[in-house]
Amino acid sequence: MQITGKVALVTGAGQGIGKSIALKLASYGADVAVVDIDYDRVTQTAVEIQKMGRRSMAMKVDVTKGDKTDEMAEAVFKEFDDSIHILVNNAGITRDALIMRMKEDDWDAVINVNLKGVFNCTKSVVKYMTKQRWGRIINIASIVGLMGNAGQANYAASKAGVIGMTKTVAREVAGRNVTCNAVAPGFIETAMTDAMPEKRRDEMIAGIPLGRLGGPDDVAKATLFLASNAASYITGQVISVNGGLYM
Ligand SMILES: NC(=O)c1ccc[n+]([C@@H]2O[C@H](COP(=O)([O-])OP(=O)(O)OC[C@H]3O[C@@H](n4cnc5c(N)ncnc54)[C@H](O)[C@@H]3O)[C@@H](O)[C@H]2O)c1
Repeated sequence: MQITGKVALVTGAGQGIGKSIALKLASYGADVAVVDIDYDRVTQTAVEIQKMGRRSMAMKVDVTKGDKTDEMAEAVFKEFDDSIHILVNNAGITRDALIMRMKEDDWDAVINVNLKGVFNCTKSVVKYMTKQRWGRIINIASIVGLMGNAGQANYAASKAGVIGMTKTVAREVAGRNVTCNAVAPGFIETAMTDAMPEKRRDEMIAGIPLGRLGGPDDVAKATLFLASNAASYITGQVISVNGGLYM
């Protein structure tokens, strides 16, 4: 699963799953550009990657802005010797509420980051991948996009949308040796799940066949696999990393 010599770009890499993915790709040989709206945090990720002996570059980018993601892709391409091989669309947010109480702003914010953000970054980067006739796009979706979840209509719609986009992009770019897949994590211990009350958390664990929440590293390992040559004949797929919570 070595990806030595490959150039990766990971969004939302300032913390949590995105940071874990960026460090994993670097530890298997890739140079990794990292972006986030939180510049201080993502700079820290870049420093950790450089300490591993890999090249890195941190940028403050809001994935909801298409002009900014165009600049991001161009900057990465130039900085890393005219190449960009792996894109991990990880940036995501939640704004939970039952549908009857969900504000229009909460709907728009989640769709903008989780769905339009994936569109923007993919569109900005894919032209470089098709030209070089090698590329791996990996979208971090969610179990919630497959099974739904009360209180998350906006989030579920965004992640189901990401899965539809994944399959469509996979069909569009396969002829250029670019694959596009999604990883659908279940409940992973990060800032996003820390907010959960303990009782709810225990109930959740009781429903997971493997008997534990996942860690960011579990998602990072599946992402590494999809980025590696081991996955060269896999495209348009959704890999669930959920301890068996949804089969
Ligand atoms: N934690 C879970 O249980 C879980 C489960 C399934 C899917 N996911 C998905 O995994 C991804 C990462 O989740 P996490 O738990 O690490 O979340 P997190 O909140 O810890 O990290 C998300 C990162 O994205 C960044 N970000 C937010 N909006 C952005 C924007 N507009 N532009 C650029 N960066 C932005 C944040 O600053 C943050 O660093 C998300 O797409 C999330 O939906 C998480």
